[in-house]
Amino acid sequence: MDEEPSNPESPDDAAESRRSLSAFQRDATVTDGGLREQFDREWPDCWADAAALLEWAEPYDEILEDDDAPFYRWFVGGRLNAAENCVDRHLEAGRKNQVALRWEGKRGERRTYTYHDLHREVSAVAAALRDLGVEEDDVVTCYLPKLPELPITMLACTRIGALHNVVFAGFAPDALVERMAGTDSSALVTCDGAFREGTAVNQKRKADAALAELEATVPTIVVDRLGPENETRLGPEQYDYGTLVERFDGADVPPVPRAATDPLFHIHTSGTTGEPQRMTHATGGYLAGTAWTSRTVFDLSPGDTYWCTADLGWITGHSYVVYGPLSRGATVVLAEGSLRYPDRHRPWEIIERNGVEVFYTTPGVIRTFMKWGESFPAEHDRSSLRLLGTVGEPIGPDTWEWYHTHVGDGRCPIVDTWWQTETGAILLSTIPGVDETKPGAAGPPLPGVEAAVVDADGRELPPGEPGYLTLTKPWPSMLSPLEGDRYWVLAEYWQQFSDRRADTWRYFTGDRAVVDEDGYVTIIGRADDVVTVGNRRLGTAELEAAITAVDGVTEAAAVAGSAGGDTDLYVFATAAQERTDRDRLRGAIRDAVVERVGRFVEPAAVVFTPELPETHSGKTMYRVLESIVDDARLEDTEPLRNPAIVGELETLWESG
Ligand code: PRX
Repeated sequence: MDEEPSNPESPDDAAESRRSLSAFQRDATVTDGGLREQFDREWPDCWADAAALLEWAEPYDEILEDDDAPFYRWFVGGRLNAAENCVDRHLEAGRKNQVALRWEGKRGERRTYTYHDLHREVSAVAAALRDLGVEEDDVVTCYLPKLPELPITMLACTRIGALHNVVFAGFAPDALVERMAGTDSSALVTCDGAFREGTAVNQKRKADAALAELEATVPTIVVDRLGPENETRLGPEQYDYGTLVERFDGADVPPVPRAATDPLFHIHTSGTTGEPQRMTHATGGYLAGTAWTSRTVFDLSPGDTYWCTADLGWITGHSYVVYGPLSRGATVVLAEGSLRYPDRHRPWEIIERNGVEVFYTTPGVIRTFMKWGESFPAEHDRSSLRLLGTVGEPIGPDTWEWYHTHVGDGRCPIVDTWWQTETGAILLSTIPGVDETKPGAAGPPLPGVEAAVVDADGRELPPGEPGYLTLTKPWPSMLSPLEGDRYWVLAEYWQQFSDRRADTWRYFTGDRAVVDEDGYVTIIGRADDVVTVGNRRLGTAELEAAITAVDGVTEAAAVAGSAGGDTDLYVFATAAQERTDRDRLRGAIRDAVVERVGRFVEPAAVVFTPELPETHSGKTMYRVLESIVDDARLEDTEPLRNPAIVGELETLWESG
């Protein structure tokens, strides 16, 4: 046997980690074990707790209005401004010189913004946007990589009551056109370019290509990222960001109080299949949800240093880089570019240099760290870390153990946070100051949240039986679609498991999950990822769960393909150890699949790959694997986090 046991901890280590867990619990902000019961008893009034973390321009009259369910309205009658909550009130609280943002550029640049600096630049950009004609309720599209100018522009929009619509900077012009047209954007903020591993990549050319496709001309602000050595020509209605900030420096732009139910921003769902859909979040509920979870789950208090690796183009970047941590008055680390450039020490250097206390990333990133090896984190001081988080896909027990041991030194609790673009904030997670963690399970619903795993007919299933994950009560940060989106939102999320005649509403998450005796929920995967093999539709989530349960397999993707004439099942998998006996592992995977679904789906091939192709938010890109199996031409690989894997997969596939 050349494998190591999957749990590297000795009983002594385990006892040690439990002891240090209680050390975390001693200092945690939220330690009240009775919070769930209290929230249940007082629901929905319990959510006043979350609203109390915000500064209100006018108090709300009603916590929850359900007249128009499932289009619930939270904190009705209240008015507040997001930028005021994330910036101004920290100045008033005497934290003007505290660092709000620490940016680390790709080329070793560093910039620090205090809350005072943030206030000044947000105000200047807000004044500039107004000067360009942006008004309350208008939409501004942001097409920027991880530069400080992105959160600053987002806050500048919300300051004047405009909505931002952040589009991932890696997307192609078509994606930008679609998202700008779909939100009727009145302005665009982009940059000249970005450095990719040392070379300048032209971002503005992509933006210009998109602008040329749009019917109306919109004013465009261009951030200079490439410096004076890369001159950019500005066309009509195009303005240099730096010049505008200078011109409006010192502008006094009072934050516009918005109704709690007014939209705060648009974002598009990140689905790996199908069309992107416009999603909207409402000001009061969304801010209350992100602030409350940043405190309860991430234990963030003013001055804590926090780093989340997500891009701001995804909901994680909105909720847990910008709104949650800044509303808490934390110091947010923002790292531009790849974690492997200039070398694999970068993530650990960022943690060491900035004294990061809370670190939040995806299982995909952790698997990359695992592949690089434990020697990289081991070489750096990580003693500042006290809490680790993960999001976006299920974290397998091996990955969890590695994260716990080699990043958290066995002493940092891990929060496995389940949520979605639509939910706005974390809904399932342990509270690190209260709950025990179970590797692989996201955890119980947070206080005030109610979930149920049901069968296809909506009947609640007993613990241990996998089914569909539904949410049976509304929550403050929930999706708040515009009038015109209600029809599809109803069909997509509320139709399947609700009883409209009884006015009983259940939100369908689209995930399959299983709940245990203690109420901890383990996510299996998306319910709609199916493969059709020999006329049978099989959920990829179940197949993949069976495959990753095989000792030595970290990750798997099942796809259907017709390489051999008939439609067959193909499995792509990553192995925990380089040295693992591949033939033995292949056999074990075949057996696991056959045992789960039957002989007729025995995989036609099992291909081992160093990693699976993933989107930037950590979802497997089945489209890429399907095109490899079917030898089809691969279109746009832009949404991929790891495009280099495509060539490697093609070689692996051809070499059989
Ligand atoms: O399938 C679940 C998975 O990610 C989906 C939501 O994706 P998105 O809207 O892009 O948001 C990602 C960041 C919030 C969910 O339906 N997912 C999210 N968190 C977890 C997860 N799967 C397992 N465990 C999680 N912690």
